Amino acid sequence: MDTENLLDIIRHRRSVRVYKSGKVTDGQLEMILEAARWAPSGANTQPWEFVVTRDRKKMKQVREIYSQEWRDRKKEDPVHYKGLKKDYVGDVSVLVLVCGEARSKQVYLTTRQPADREKLFQASIANAVQQAMLAAASMNLGTVWVSVREEVEPELRKMFKVPNELRLLWVMPIGHARSWPKAKPRRPISAFTHYEVYDKKKLRKDGDIHAWPKN
Ligand SMILES: Cc1cc2nc3c(=O)[nH]c(=O)nc-3n(C[C@H](O)[C@H](O)[C@H](O)COP(=O)(O)O)c2cc1C
Repeated sequence: MDTENLLDIIRHRRSVRVYKSGKVTDGQLEMILEAARWAPSGANTQPWEFVVTRDRKKMKQVREIYSQEWRDRKKEDPVHYKGLKKDYVGDVSVLVLVCGEARSKQVYLTTRQPADREKLFQASIANAVQQAMLAAASMNLGTVWVSVREEVEPELRKMFKVPNELRLLWVMPIGHARSWPKAKPRRPISAFTHYEVYDKKKLRKDGDIHAWPKN
């Protein structure tokens, strides 16, 4: 066991949004999926389902779906809409649609509230995605979380024949980074860690929260 190596991989991972050509081999993909397979999940439900494509034509269609959403949103609110174009979804070796089997929520027997079930469900799938991303980073492959908003979900669902029993949560491109991005700032441990009880002095003001996300 080598914690320093693990931390190096964790620190190395970046959201990669510009890719160059180059194949993610079947062996690499297998290792990425193997890492996802070992993620912890609520009641060990393992609710993730991945639809994997290497088909460039399909990726270009996905890019067009996202571009159309971007254009529509920009048209609606040209001044305030600051969403970034997601061209990278059309430009990678492998594109993974991250889905979740929503019926798994019925298995969380000790949990009664729908919101609590939803937390277990999404956290379980997010764990698998994160483990996959770390495995990719360990091979110097780039990935990025791509949100699937309601505006694009139906078209993606139809294209990839995702059954209604499943939720379509995120898209994960995997490929070779054009250049490895610089790290974004991280909050110091002392800012988010509270010993014994929550330290109210550390409660951020609204302004701090809104000012935070810096590139
Ligand atoms: C749940 C989730 C959804 C995200 N959605 C998007 C997205 O739609 N598009 C995107 O470019 N990045 C997305 N990101 C990536 C974040 O912007 C990124 O992780 C964050 O800025 C930190 O940068 P880093 O991943 O390079 O460390 C998402 C991340 C998470 C965890």
